[in-house]
Amino acid sequence: MLTLGVETSCDETSAAVVEGERRILSNIVASQFDLHARYGGVVPELACRRHVEVISQTVDSALDEAGVAMSDVGLVSVVKGPGLIGALLVGVSFGKALARSRGVPIIGVNHVEAHLYSAVMSNEGIGFPAIGLVVSGGHTMLFLMEDFGVYRWLGGTVDDAVGEAGDKVATLLGLPYLGGPLVEKLAAGGNPRAIDFPRAMMRRGNAGQSPYDFSYAGLKTAVLYHVKGYAGSPRDATLIDDAERADIAAGYQVAAFEPLVKKTMWAAEEFAAQSAVVCGGVSRNETLRAMFADAGAECGVPVYFPAKELGTDNAAMVAGLGAWRAARFPDQVADDFDAFPNFSAFDSLEGYRDPRARRKKK
Ligand code: KG4
Ligand code: ZN
Repeated sequence: MLTLGVETSCDETSAAVVEGERRILSNIVASQFDLHARYGGVVPELACRRHVEVISQTVDSALDEAGVAMSDVGLVSVVKGPGLIGALLVGVSFGKALARSRGVPIIGVNHVEAHLYSAVMSNEGIGFPAIGLVVSGGHTMLFLMEDFGVYRWLGGTVDDAVGEAGDKVATLLGLPYLGGPLVEKLAAGGNPRAIDFPRAMMRRGNAGQSPYDFSYAGLKTAVLYHVKGYAGSPRDATLIDDAERADIAAGYQVAAFEPLVKKTMWAAEEFAAQSAVVCGGVSRNETLRAMFADAGAECGVPVYFPAKELGTDNAAMVAGLGAWRAARFPDQVADDFDAFPNFSAFDSLEGYRDPRARRKKK
């Protein structure tokens, strides 16, 4: 069976055709990079408008590239959330209209679960239970996956997502939007031990927190003070030489990534996991991959990543997940779902609490 995937949760308009649960026939990603670059971040209203403009041609391109027609498609799979609500509504409305007018069944899937599925799609033989880590511009989340589709919440960021922190550090270092990958490039020429930035480990005992929570606001502020100097001894950030910028980038990366690696390995040990999967945009980072490979080898936990092109937002993982769910949970194939912005509506999830919401209440 062929599944047409549609993804519009943030700033990529994407459509893909997948055969069965994992064979990708096409995966078109229409990036909005140019649109948001001058603002240094995604502008929701502009994102929605661009989705409206390009969604129809993106779907046509995905069908063309796969060499198939809409009449060959057996299922439409669309991201229903979480994400920017206006952006999601474009994909959900388009997907429902397409499915209804062509008489094709439709399923709505979760964006975060689609990131987890991207690792399953790219690798054979992942052992369960597994620890799942999602690291992107919007999410930093750790799950116990009893099996694929059965999750227990372990922790998440109480403030910034790790990808978001990387993009802000990039701005501090004078790098353009979208900074995460540029920090990685700059860091390649730096010494990760030259500057000892703080690691937010948030161990057991911190009030109201899970030992598996994360925090990136403090690290971001430490980089800010390092670059701009402290009150009383301000620095002219423009005078920082290239060697020090590279050291800052390298020092930032290890400080940001160490808690991710350590907590994934702690969780693997606590829950006797057979493997770990690391996905989302930041999982494309080679330093992160190398740190996970080393720690995984030391702890005897194989670590799996998505193929690099499936790291950032894309519709192939959405099509694959839709096909996977439709085969096991046929009652989920229905067009009665709505778009939702917040993560809390994740399917089959135990123990979820929003670490950001708890923090705001105090
Ligand atoms: O998964 P994604 O495309 O979108 C969200 O769901 O957020 O992730 C985008 C994030 C951005 O913060 C971007 O800077 C980061 O992933 N990213 C990277 C790398 N490639 C993308 N961060 C560090 N190193 C990379 N190579
Ligand atoms: Zn994403």
